[in-house]
Amino acid sequence: MTAPALVAREITVRYGGVRAVSNVTLEVPEGKIIGLIGPNGAGKTTLVDAITGFVPCDGRVEIAGEDVTRLKPHARARRGLGRTWQAVELFDDLSVAENVAVAIGTPSPWATIKELFVKPTLEKARVGEALDSVGIGHLFDAMPTELSEGQRKLVGIARAFAGSPRVVCLDEPAAGLDTTETHELGMQLRGLTSGGTSMLLIDHDIGFVFGACDHVVVVEFGTVIAEGPPHEIYANERVIEAYLGSSAIPTEDPGARR
Ligand SMILES: Nc1ncnc2c1ncn2[C@@H]1O[C@H](COP(=O)(O)OP(=O)(O)O)[C@@H](O)[C@H]1O
Ligand SMILES: [Mg+2]
Repeated sequence: MTAPALVAREITVRYGGVRAVSNVTLEVPEGKIIGLIGPNGAGKTTLVDAITGFVPCDGRVEIAGEDVTRLKPHARARRGLGRTWQAVELFDDLSVAENVAVAIGTPSPWATIKELFVKPTLEKARVGEALDSVGIGHLFDAMPTELSEGQRKLVGIARAFAGSPRVVCLDEPAAGLDTTETHELGMQLRGLTSGGTSMLLIDHDIGFVFGACDHVVVVEFGTVIAEGPPHEIYANERVIEAYLGSSAIPTEDPGARR
């Protein structure tokens, strides 16, 4: 058996006296999408920050069986760990393609952003592929200022996938997308798993998460309160009480979206 793409074992993050994440363990097997849901302030982003190395934590993080707990964010990225951010930062004076290309360039002390475009042919193909993978290939030459909020989000997601990562943490990728864009993104993410890419998917759109994920982890106050396949979580009373609430429950059977 191959090691899971990502393992976060007994992760605890403290901010001052507050435990934002408390003893959370989760696994992302190769080619699977694991959903992470929970109310605002539950610790979802903090867990991603710990996994990607942006905040110190107790516990252990493994990428494809390798312990990366002591590694800095860029070293984890080089081992195939990608992420998106809740707020997308694009360089407004670079084109969409250049914004994505920036993420592919191997960082070296002497490489400036301009120099990353010296080997354009190979990069152009990879950037095009990344944009296509989230359905915005036609925006290759567009400037960020011409994009809708949803399209800006999709560029951020393409950037995360451009370096052919092994596993990507997606922090609320559907926020700012309309219903059609969200539905299409779900299908595109499923498509990316067939190439072996794995994902940890955070979002408040429960229909989107349940439709896209193989397994869902629910957190509240920094701890895991439930986990299981979407149809089980959908029927879990504790989850419904703690998080979903009657108004948030999608009327459609999430299993029907797959
Ligand atoms: N940099 C920080 N410093 C102090 N507290 C923080 C920081 N970031 C997040 N928190 C706190 O940690 C908890 C979890 O936040 P967060 O991970 O952003 O939750 P979520 O992403 O689930 O909405 C919250 O109580 C939040 O206020
Ligand atoms: Mg968050």
